[in-house]
Amino acid sequence: MLRSPRDFFKPKVVGAPEPLREIPVLPSRMIHFFDPSNPKMAVKVPDIAKTVDIMLGNLEDAVPIDRKEAAREGLVKIGKAVDFGNTQFWTRVNSLDSPWFIDDLTRLVGEIGDKLDVIMLPKIQGPWDIHFADQLLAQLEAKYGVKKPLLIHAILETALGVANVDDIANASPRMQGMSLGPADLAASRRMKTTRVGGGHPDYVVRTDPDPNNPNALRPTAQQDLWHYTIGRMVDACVSVGALAFYGPFGDIADLVACEDQFRNAYLMGCVGTWTLHPNQIAIAKRVFSPKAEEVTWAKRVVEAMPDGSGAVMIDGKMQDDATWKQCKVVLNLAQLIASRDPEYKALYGF
Ligand code: GLV
Ligand code: MG
Repeated sequence: MLRSPRDFFKPKVVGAPEPLREIPVLPSRMIHFFDPSNPKMAVKVPDIAKTVDIMLGNLEDAVPIDRKEAAREGLVKIGKAVDFGNTQFWTRVNSLDSPWFIDDLTRLVGEIGDKLDVIMLPKIQGPWDIHFADQLLAQLEAKYGVKKPLLIHAILETALGVANVDDIANASPRMQGMSLGPADLAASRRMKTTRVGGGHPDYVVRTDPDPNNPNALRPTAQQDLWHYTIGRMVDACVSVGALAFYGPFGDIADLVACEDQFRNAYLMGCVGTWTLHPNQIAIAKRVFSPKAEEVTWAKRVVEAMPDGSGAVMIDGKMQDDATWKQCKVVLNLAQLIASRDPEYKALYGF
């Protein structure tokens, strides 16, 4: 038996805020990670926050065990002190099976529950994890008088999580979105990579041998290890009005491959990516904002088909209701980004 659909939008605890009916669609080109236990990083937070769409205080992996509490308390301090303006403020808490999760959630919701927008939950295995976090968040929201519901963002980074991705997306009206977690996912699946995201030179397809020259070099093309998972994540998220994101790209010095990986995710339907280093911010901004020429083309198609129906030829290419819809996706995204980013507003001529 499923829960009654009528109950889905009722608060799960008396006094908790009502769940949102729609996930807010905001410019979300990059989720920039910082370590709140690092005081040198903490002082830079207000300035970096002005340059990104989402700022995320990370409490999970990459924070050493002996700094878990310092990270949590550092984030409370930053959350209280910093005015994030219209930059979203997120956190990644420790996983549900860790000894820190309960205190992460209790401290953060109690101290900065009204400042946080989204809580990223790592290593989500199935809808039961979301139900647990959903109920606990409602308890804490009621206890601490939080006014707007905290949203949940799941990292897709276990084999079981990928197998359950549709049920995870549907598990709660708090589901804001998901990110691919290629590093943990590789370990969970027994993939043989030893990197954080991106390609692998051994994952290739090879052309057939030339019968007249069987010893000639046979060109190969590297394939994308993450294509399947990103496709499943995008479909699961979009089906429920949630947003899909690429995750971390660990080779900070390889800006070219980073850009390729981000762009593949953008083209497949992701709205943004994680950025782990300031160098990756500009790449994410460029990749997850439509190109000016795409926007110009989309405008032309939409203007040529004012009610979005019928068929017209533009520059020899057939346009119909379905290309009009694709162009609307690009135009709507451009307008959304222009509403936040004056540089892109000028570039698009809005
Ligand atoms: C992110 O958390 C990852 O495991 O890739
Ligand atoms: Mg991970």
